[in-house]
Amino acid sequence: MSASWGDNLRISIFGESHASHVGLVIDGLSPGKKIDFEKILKEMHRRAPGKNSLSTSRKEEDYPEIISGLFEGYTTGAPLTLIIKNKDFRSKDYSQLKDIMRPGHADYTANIKYQGYNDYRGGGHFSGRLTAPLVFAGALAKQFLEDEGIYIGAHILSVKDIRDKTFSQESLTREKFEELKKSSLALLDKDKEEVIKDLILKTKRQGDSLGGIVECAAIGVEPGLGEPFFDSVESKISSLVFSIGGVKGIEFGSGFEMSKMKASQANDSMYFNEKGLVKTRSNNNGGINGGISNGMPIVFKAAIKPTPSIAIKQDTINIKTGQNTSLELKGRHDPIIVLRVLPVLEAVMAIALLDLLKSKKF
Ligand SMILES: Cc1cc2nc3c(=O)[nH]c(=O)nc-3n(C[C@H](O)[C@H](O)[C@H](O)COP(=O)(O)O)c2cc1C
Repeated sequence: MSASWGDNLRISIFGESHASHVGLVIDGLSPGKKIDFEKILKEMHRRAPGKNSLSTSRKEEDYPEIISGLFEGYTTGAPLTLIIKNKDFRSKDYSQLKDIMRPGHADYTANIKYQGYNDYRGGGHFSGRLTAPLVFAGALAKQFLEDEGIYIGAHILSVKDIRDKTFSQESLTREKFEELKKSSLALLDKDKEEVIKDLILKTKRQGDSLGGIVECAAIGVEPGLGEPFFDSVESKISSLVFSIGGVKGIEFGSGFEMSKMKASQANDSMYFNEKGLVKTRSNNNGGINGGISNGMPIVFKAAIKPTPSIAIKQDTINIKTGQNTSLELKGRHDPIIVLRVLPVLEAVMAIALLDLLKSKKF
C-alpha cells in the first residue's frame, strides 16, 4: 500500500482528479495547537492553478474543509481529516485516454497496476491535484515547526537551462523566504524573470512543456535529528519528494557536484560561532552528516521533468486494440510543473522534519 507515510506523524492521502474530492488524514498531531487557517489558505493558494498564463487555465479553488481533528481552532490530537472538493474538471477531455496511453505520464503503469480499473480521468490518483492535500499537511506542519524556530523556503533554481543563483548565507533567511513566497516567479536573481516568462510562454504556444530545478531549504533545524540508516534525514525527505509526480532527481547540498571536488574543497570546515554554536563555513553536505542534521540549513535540489501532457503529436500505444498509434492532446495542462511544485516541496520538507522532530520531542 502506497497511500500512507510516516512514523511519528502518519499521513494517508486519498482521491482522484475527477472524483468528488481529494483529501488526507493526519494522525499524530499534538493536541492544543492553535491553527492559523488564513496561513493555510495562503499556502494552498500558492499551489492552486489558474492564476496566470504560466500555469494551466483549470480553476482549482482548493478550499480545504476540515472534518475532524480540529475543535474551536485547536488541534484535538485525534486524526485530522481534510477534504477538498474537485470543481473545474472536464472529463470529456480525457475520454480518449482510457485506451491511448500518454507517453511520460502514469497512464500505462496505472493501467497495469490496477488491472484497468483505475480512474484515468485527469490522471486519476496520479494527478498533480493530489499535491493539494500535501500542501495542506505541510502548511500545518510549518506552524508546528515555527514554534521550534524552523522556517522553510524555496526558489526556482532553473528553468530548462536558464539558471538562478543558489541559496547562500545571505539568502537563507526568514525574510527572504517570505519575499520569495510573495513573488509570482520565486527567483533570487530577478533579472532572470522576463527571460524565463518569455521562454515558458513561447514553449506553451508551441504546444510543448518545460522542466527545471527547485532548491528548497529549512533554517533553524537543531543538530541531532534523524537516524544513521533507514530513517536518515535524506531518506525521510526523499521518500516524500518522490511522492510528487514529475520529480526525477534529488541532491542534498552540493550533491553531484561534490563528486568532482577534492575533500579539501568538499569538507565543510567547522567552528564555534559567537553564541558557542557549532557551524560550518560552507554547507556542501546540505546540513546532514551520517543521516543526522548538523545544525546548518538543510538544503536539497529537486529535478522536475517537463509536463508530460503536451499538444504536440507523439507516438504511443492503444492498449485496447493492441496497435501502435499517435496522440495529440487537447486538455488544459501546465506548461511547466516547476512553478507549481515549489510549495509542494516546501510542504514535504515540513512534514518530514516534523516527523523527525516528533521522535525526539513530543
Ligand atoms: C503540481 C503539479 C501539477 C502537474 N500538472 C500536470 C499537468 O497539467 N499535466 C500533466 O500531464 N502532468 C502534470 N503533472 C505531472 C504528473 O502528475 C506526473 O508526471 C505523473 O504523475 C507521472 O509521474 P512521474 O512523472 O513522477 O513519473 C503535475 C505534477 C504536479 C506536482
